[in-house]
Amino acid sequence: MTVALVRLLTVVTAAAVVLGHAVMQVPTPRRAGSTYTERCGDTYAEFMETDKAGPIENGVKKAGSEIGCNPYLCRGYQYEDNAATEYTPGQVIDFHIDLIAGHRPGYANVSIVDLEANKIISSPLRSWDTWPNATATTPRSDIDFNVTIPTTLGAACSAGGKCAIQWYWYAINNVQTYESCVDFYVVP
Ligand SMILES: *[C@@H]1O[C@H](CO)[C@@H](O)[C@H](O)[C@H]1NC(C)=O
Ligand SMILES: *[C@@H]1O[C@H](CO)[C@@H](O)[C@H](O)[C@H]1NC(C)=O
Ligand SMILES: *[C@@H]1O[C@H](CO)[C@@H](O)[C@H](O)[C@H]1NC(C)=O
Repeated sequence: MTVALVRLLTVVTAAAVVLGHAVMQVPTPRRAGSTYTERCGDTYAEFMETDKAGPIENGVKKAGSEIGCNPYLCRGYQYEDNAATEYTPGQVIDFHIDLIAGHRPGYANVSIVDLEANKIISSPLRSWDTWPNATATTPRSDIDFNVTIPTTLGAACSAGGKCAIQWYWYAINNVQTYESCVDFYVVP
């Protein structure tokens, strides 16, 4: 075997064993449904359901131009298939991320997204320059954490479908994006 082939096989093998996987478990995140399948297309929807913790890029590669939704907003899941939870400004919400396999380096954050504009409202509620934490000890602050609902949202998140809390993880070397969303509204 040539040196180049050995190198290639090493890279391929390494890539095969370091599958990144993570998904929000608490609160219950936005899920699949018929509107999702209709907008994102059968290929993307079916592929992403085979691994609910898998990266968005794999589904995008599989489905290509068939995708009719924005897969990078809430993993393509649609509000119409879900329901929003009422939160109070200042309320502390506990999160748990099911980290099945980590990739480093990567970074993560939790932000409130204006769903229509696909824009983050103010600054992230939490952000980690390095995620997952290679030296984490139990209880792990990277996968078990809380966020506080801002008191400054005003009318921006006054009804279901306007805002979601999005957890976002980007694995840099693998070029893989992971997202989970929680639909909510606040009664000011
Ligand atoms: C937070 O996540 C978004 C994706 O929702 C990303 O585009 C952005 O760069 C991240 N922000 C920070 C401060 O890390
Ligand atoms: C990673 O975990 C260790 C052990 O719990 C902690 O001391 C450290 O602050 C954590 N790092 C970050 C960036 O949160
Ligand atoms: C939220 O998490 C912080 C640690 O980041 C902790 O000190 C605090 O007690 C938690 N708050 C609640 C209400 O659980």
